[in-house]
This record gives sequence, C-alpha cells and structure tokens, in this order.
Amino acid sequence: MLHHIAIFASGTGSNAKKIVEHFKHNHNITVSLIVTNNADAPVLVMAREYGIPTLVIDRDYFYKTEDILKNFNKFSIDFVVLAGFLWLVPTYLVRAFEKRMVNIHPALLPKYGGKGMYGMRVHEAVKKAGDTETGITIHFVNEQYDDGDIVFQAKCLVNTEDSPEDIAKKIHQLEHRHFPKVIEKLLAE
Ligand code: GRF
Repeated sequence: MLHHIAIFASGTGSNAKKIVEHFKHNHNITVSLIVTNNADAPVLVMAREYGIPTLVIDRDYFYKTEDILKNFNKFSIDFVVLAGFLWLVPTYLVRAFEKRMVNIHPALLPKYGGKGMYGMRVHEAVKKAGDTETGITIHFVNEQYDDGDIVFQAKCLVNTEDSPEDIAKKIHQLEHRHFPKVIEKLLAE
C-alpha cells in the first residue's frame, strides 16, 4: 500500500525537508502535501523545489470548517506529521487521524511542553533549569498541546557552557537523524 503523508510546518521546515528527502526514492511512502498557516514560510519554497503540492490555511478554515479533510482525500493522505506547527489541532482532525498523526517536540516531554513552549523558549528553559540532558520527543497528537502518547525519545547532553543556541543545534541534529526513520517505522507497523 502506498502511504501518503501530509506535513504541517510553519517555519523553516528543516525537518520537513529531511522527511521529504528521506522518502524521495521510497516506493511505499511519499510526502504528498505540505500544509502551513504562514504564507511566507520558507517551507513553501522547499515544497516548490520538490514539486510537492501546498496548502496555506487560516484559522477560520482550520477551526470553523472540516474542509481540510476533503483536501486530504484528494491526495489520499493517510498519515499526518507536525514539524514545527504551532496551532492546536481541532478535534475533528485528531479523531480522523488517531494514532496516524505525530508531532515532534524539542525536549523530553513531559518536561518543557504545553502552550507557549516552542522554539528557543524550550532551550532557554532547559538552560535556566541547569539540566544536564535534554532531547526530542515524537508523540501521537491528541487534543492538548504536546500531550499524546509518546512514540520515541532521544537524549543529548547539555554542557554547562552550552548556550540555548548550542542546545538548539544539538536538538535539530537529533530531530533530523531520527524523525524520518520513526515515521517510516510507524508506517511499516
Ligand atoms: C523543531 O525544533 C521541532 O521540534 C519544533 O519546531 C521546530 C521546527 O524546526 N516542533 P524546523 O522548521 O523543522 O527547522
């Protein structure tokens, strides 16, 4: 069976790119749609380079209609990946993709998760707390921020001299190394 992935990303999209590249020559899994709420997101440039269809959404479309499901049908989407997408996922979408939608979070949940905990804020909190390790969490998506069942975690060390920017770099490396493979494994199950 050919799996069609939709990736939601609203920023740089470095994870989205890694995932697209990972599955480029895979005959069973393909990234078929990139969704963003940011019309200026660099991820759209990447999508264009790879010839992947894109969908720019606004709040009314996402929360007041279920039209995104029609788009998903059009592209036969059967798995959803959130990679730097900050909006809470509405119930109709959570239900439609139960155990078939994952998010990546740049910390070891349940630490440093929840509303407002994203990007550099997470790494600054890790630094402030003086933690000696941090990491990434890939989890299924439910109706709360960063709260669904955990699928995978990987850790890295935080040295006392590491700045939040240094931590961010380590985290991105971990994300890029693991996220595509974890998705592939989930789709093989
Ligand atoms: C990642 O650190 C991810 O954990 C978080 O948002 C960031 C997205 O980075 N959810 P990028 O746009 O993939 O570079």
